[in-house]
Amino acid sequence: MASAAGDSGPASIGEAAEKRRTFAIIAHPDAGKTTLTEKLLLMGGAIHLAGQVKAKGEGRRARSDWMKIEQSRGISVTTSVMTFEYRDVTFNLLDTPGHEDFSEDTYRTLTAVDSAIMVIDGAKGIEAQTRKLFEVCRLRDVPIITFINKMDREARDNFEILDEISEILALDTTPMSWPVGMGGIFRGCYDMREQKMMLFDGNKDSSELTDVIDAPVDDPKLDAALPADQLAQAREEMELVQAACPEFDLENYRAGHLTPVFFGSALRSFGIKQLLDAVVDFAPSPRPQPTDRREIEPDEKPVTGFVFKVQANMDPNHRDRIAFMRLCSGKFKRGLKMHQVRTGKSIGIYNPILFFAQSRELAEEAWPGDIIGVPNHGTLRVGDTLTEGENLRFTGIPNFAPEILRRVRLDDPMKAKHLKKALESLAEEGVTQVFRPMIGADWIVGVVGQLQIDVLATRIESEYGIKVGFEAAPFYSARWVDGDPAEMKRFLDRNQSSAAEDRDGAPVYMARNSWDLNRAIEDWPKLKFTATRERS
Ligand code: G4P
Repeated sequence: MASAAGDSGPASIGEAAEKRRTFAIIAHPDAGKTTLTEKLLLMGGAIHLAGQVKAKGEGRRARSDWMKIEQSRGISVTTSVMTFEYRDVTFNLLDTPGHEDFSEDTYRTLTAVDSAIMVIDGAKGIEAQTRKLFEVCRLRDVPIITFINKMDREARDNFEILDEISEILALDTTPMSWPVGMGGIFRGCYDMREQKMMLFDGNKDSSELTDVIDAPVDDPKLDAALPADQLAQAREEMELVQAACPEFDLENYRAGHLTPVFFGSALRSFGIKQLLDAVVDFAPSPRPQPTDRREIEPDEKPVTGFVFKVQANMDPNHRDRIAFMRLCSGKFKRGLKMHQVRTGKSIGIYNPILFFAQSRELAEEAWPGDIIGVPNHGTLRVGDTLTEGENLRFTGIPNFAPEILRRVRLDDPMKAKHLKKALESLAEEGVTQVFRPMIGADWIVGVVGQLQIDVLATRIESEYGIKVGFEAAPFYSARWVDGDPAEMKRFLDRNQSSAAEDRDGAPVYMARNSWDLNRAIEDWPKLKFTATRERS
């Protein structure tokens, strides 16, 4: 049995909330997210051996078996949330699956965090997936701490990477540390916040960071420890960067306008402590959450929360689900009866789960910012709000424009009704989006990651006994259309072959290519074409 609050327990809801950091790591595949996660967990004492988050070598084969399970049952539960403690603060780290596992869940998870760490490969800069994930963060102005990774390898010019962050992401940058050298001649980083030089030793794991010179940047102690040319260059660069970048400003960071930047090497455990300290010192504790009525403050007494992810359970014989609920206010206690606002039903939460790196435990109590898993048989859906009675709905848990659209081909036409039911229920769960074209009888499904299609096919067959295939649809992307009803009708009438409805009947434009999409946006200035739509 577990309490996410530790043994003694906090004095008040506000105090417990203050001591929580609910965050995610966003990165392009291979930038080092798994390695960094592992090092954060090691530092938090949640695991004791490196290599447990992602098995190496031998484990690679295991990973593909595990993928098969994932494909038939959805995405892994155990890695979705990890809770650990550091400096008396409870960290809830939410996983944002990348690679083949990339799905709408990846995006939606970001609606449940208060801040994020953005990992950038120092040799590559901002890559496609970092950018997509960042854009989702920007929807809610989620504050971002940047970690430029792999400094132990040849990296790009540091100034270039900072420029890229400010130009591509429109974020101000404030370097908090500055590297001396890189690759084979990486000497360490100067911590500009604490005014000390952290020395890198290629032969050692740097997690202890014993080699620290506590000295201002121009102190001769540094001259004695570092090669003169490298130190001279780093000093010059630091002077330049301090003149070019704004000073760190907590408010600007928290408003999502400025990112503090750290350099390091996840693999060599270098710079991890500075990063975790920054999450403790700068990252916001649970923020007030918007609803359709008012903002909910975390220290309000009544318990509230919303479901951001629903996970099919591993047992194929049961339609068990685990709904991941982010608590937004109040002190949650096991057995609490909560009001499901969408249906008006009362739901007793008797077996809530807290997730640790290597175990799941029954949650006796939980606090704002915590994520609890609620086992259920399909009653809870993505986007659901639970309260202690108040009829309000958390907003900002959108559907995202699908990037892969497929036409569903049914082998047995007699099963059309069953298919409709299966697709609607999987759409409610958040596994896919479904669209009904204005012309033609076939359903179109939309996802943001290829694995979602595989999961969908397996589940339709195993859970509903329907064999389906997926054919390429001639569409590139979908946008929800909104605006003056008469103008919308004119637009949809003119574009019947590209018009569809989503599962709630909202009009959708399915563009054949990016040119069509841009043209529609230009030609119909009174209409809004949006890439997200609030779930109803
Ligand atoms: P991801 O989750 O973002 O996809 O990245 P992951 O941590 O799996 O890292 C991708 C590759 O980059 C791995 O190497 C990892 O060891 C390496 N890496 C991560 N951080 C650093 C770093 O700070 N310095 C260096 N030099 N390498 C780093 P791999 O060879 O692809 O895989 P593996 O066989 O080591 O697992």
